[in-house]
Amino acid sequence: MTIGELAPPQRLMMTPGPSSVDPRVYRALAAPIVGHLDPWFKTCMNETQELMRQVFQTTNRITMPMSASGSGGIETAIVNVLEPGDEAIICVNGYFSDRMFEVASRTQAKITKVEAPLGRPVHPDDVRRAAAGKKIKLVGVAHGETSTGVVTDLDNFRKVADELGALLIVDAVASLAAVPLNVDKQRLDIVFSGSQKALSAPPGISPITVGPRAEEVMTSRKTKVQSWYFDITTAMAYWGQGRLYHHTPPISLIYALREAMRIAIEDGLEARWDRHRACQQALVAGIEAMGLKMFVENPADRLVTVTPVMIPAGVNDAKFRGQLLDEFNIEIAGGIGPLGGKIWRLGLMGYCAQKANVLLLLGAMEKVLLDQGARVPAGAGVAAAARSFSHAEAALTAK
Ligand SMILES: Cc1ncc(COP(=O)(O)O)c(C=O)c1O
Repeated sequence: MTIGELAPPQRLMMTPGPSSVDPRVYRALAAPIVGHLDPWFKTCMNETQELMRQVFQTTNRITMPMSASGSGGIETAIVNVLEPGDEAIICVNGYFSDRMFEVASRTQAKITKVEAPLGRPVHPDDVRRAAAGKKIKLVGVAHGETSTGVVTDLDNFRKVADELGALLIVDAVASLAAVPLNVDKQRLDIVFSGSQKALSAPPGISPITVGPRAEEVMTSRKTKVQSWYFDITTAMAYWGQGRLYHHTPPISLIYALREAMRIAIEDGLEARWDRHRACQQALVAGIEAMGLKMFVENPADRLVTVTPVMIPAGVNDAKFRGQLLDEFNIEIAGGIGPLGGKIWRLGLMGYCAQKANVLLLLGAMEKVLLDQGARVPAGAGVAAAARSFSHAEAALTAK
């Protein structure tokens, strides 16, 4: 059997990740490999870390690309802080914040789970109540919960963590470079993300930043970090001044992430946040004009990068997504866990968060819904989205 040359289809990734990749990033990915200790690469490392500080908006010394997907970011943040006997609170309002709880509960620390109903953020008062009488070392929260499309207001959680004298650990996998986030101004102790979401680089890197209070906690540990690979202080032997071998990093992915971050900075973070918001408002206007229902009821709780939509009665989930893929080369995601078969998750991340893609997706959804026997008012989705974009553009010009 002869295996042919690799030829993946060109999909439009309107998913909660990975998102489609800018051609500039593909070009970076194809650049020649150098050694991880090559003097040229050391400069490339400095530049990558500098760009990462700009994207996170921080001056944190420990700011580096972990050689891992977003889940590795969760693991790194949790296992470097918690020691046996510590107590921590993890806020859980979906599949990925529950993963943070799962990672934390594999340490020998005592973990309290504080939950919210799916489609809502955790209430800070529930954290206060759960913490009563405990010495909480860290509070963990997902800025954007990708499984439900919910955003959490981090300032409320900073306040609670301050009251408890705890570190605040933030999963920004689905929000970095799309949702306002300023690590230093908001005094977030550890924040990690994923390369494949709103940064629109290939999957495989988890950018992470660690503030001075968290660094102090890490350097004054009494026990060794349970993971060798994700031990931040030893990984900093390579990503800090020494540039000493720790493990061989994914050179090509670092090139790609560097270029993706250059694009984010060229766009301007605020312009990028505005663009994501305008795209989501138009998408929501279009979805509602087609007669479909949003899963997250409160507009203030909606995460701009992931829009969950209730699957209308009588429409087959798998057939709908299959036809979008086969006929339009558009991938969207279904629900996970208890939301499987109940919602579609429409992604607007980085390179995909563009006006043309929103209009194309709505037009394609109308065609597929009609083919599946649903009743959809002709052209209503695209028309409502177009109006929404025009309003957003007029508001921006008036600024
Ligand atoms: C909020 C959030 N956290 C963590 C992860 C895990 O990231 P990965 O799949 O890259 O390991 C994801 C992935 O979708 C996510 O959306």
